[in-house]
Amino acid sequence: MKQAETFAVTVIAKQFNGTGNLLLTLKRADALALPSYTPGAHIDVAIPLCGKRQYSLCSAAEAEDEYQICVRLDAASTGGSHWLHHQLNQGDSLTISAPRNHFPLPTSSRTLLFAAGIGLTPLLVMAEALAARAADFTLHLYLKNRDELAFSARLKSLGDRVVYHFSSENESLRQHIPDDLLFIENSVIVACGPEGFMQNLQRLSQQYGWNSDQFYTERFKPSTVTQPINTDSFDVEIASSGARFTIKQEESIAEVLEREGIEIDLSCEQGMCGTCVTRVIAGQPDHRDDVLNMKQKAANDCIVLCCSRSHSPLLVLDL
Ligand code: FES
Repeated sequence: MKQAETFAVTVIAKQFNGTGNLLLTLKRADALALPSYTPGAHIDVAIPLCGKRQYSLCSAAEAEDEYQICVRLDAASTGGSHWLHHQLNQGDSLTISAPRNHFPLPTSSRTLLFAAGIGLTPLLVMAEALAARAADFTLHLYLKNRDELAFSARLKSLGDRVVYHFSSENESLRQHIPDDLLFIENSVIVACGPEGFMQNLQRLSQQYGWNSDQFYTERFKPSTVTQPINTDSFDVEIASSGARFTIKQEESIAEVLEREGIEIDLSCEQGMCGTCVTRVIAGQPDHRDDVLNMKQKAANDCIVLCCSRSHSPLLVLDL
């Protein structure tokens, strides 16, 4: 596997940030500057014995020499959030990757941000960026109850552009549909949250006439793909060498290329982080990921190698 750029960082603060959430502030161990990032970016965090986990960056724009990530303790944690909450201490070291952004803020006259739970982290940074340029936006924030509220001071500074919806007060998306969804022209929806919330929002927006290319999302877990998967074998060609490899039904493109000694960047290996996105020169990918938006998928000029397959017998990859 190709090694992505990494940094050793020190945890300079570990604070609670709304019930069940931990806010970690990280600085480079060698005191050099961390790379800048754009709203929606995430980093990989190497967790001992668990591998890499992805977290959205949520530091305020003025905090140039540090990163913040907010981690929710997941009841179904496979180790990552549990270790960060219970084993990691202030002053400890971590290894993180350079930021990557596969969830950039789209350009639009009007932006509706829909965040549920810890899905707030990338959208808070987007909201602050939109506020800084006096753009037209609203952040709808969905939480179970008021105790869950994180980043309260930063949200407060966004004023009435944040609309709070607490399920405990009968304001969930199932109980109340915001009027904002009625106005579609020159608008985009940007959403991040658990799968049930995202599916519900997608269904509602379709019902109200929003097009799929007005809908930008980031998910916590791979979505359940409902379209039938194309299980036929196909070939991939490496454009730089002309080498061809067959991808059988039970294999991913990434697995086969790694086995053949071709270095590719991998991280989540679930079609969620975008690390392995690769340009397609010829052929028609069968997109199975949660990274590319509808427009990118329709363009068919890139593919997520860890999970997607091919509709055409041959894919030529820009490798
Ligand atoms: S490794 Fe994360 S999308 Fe492929």
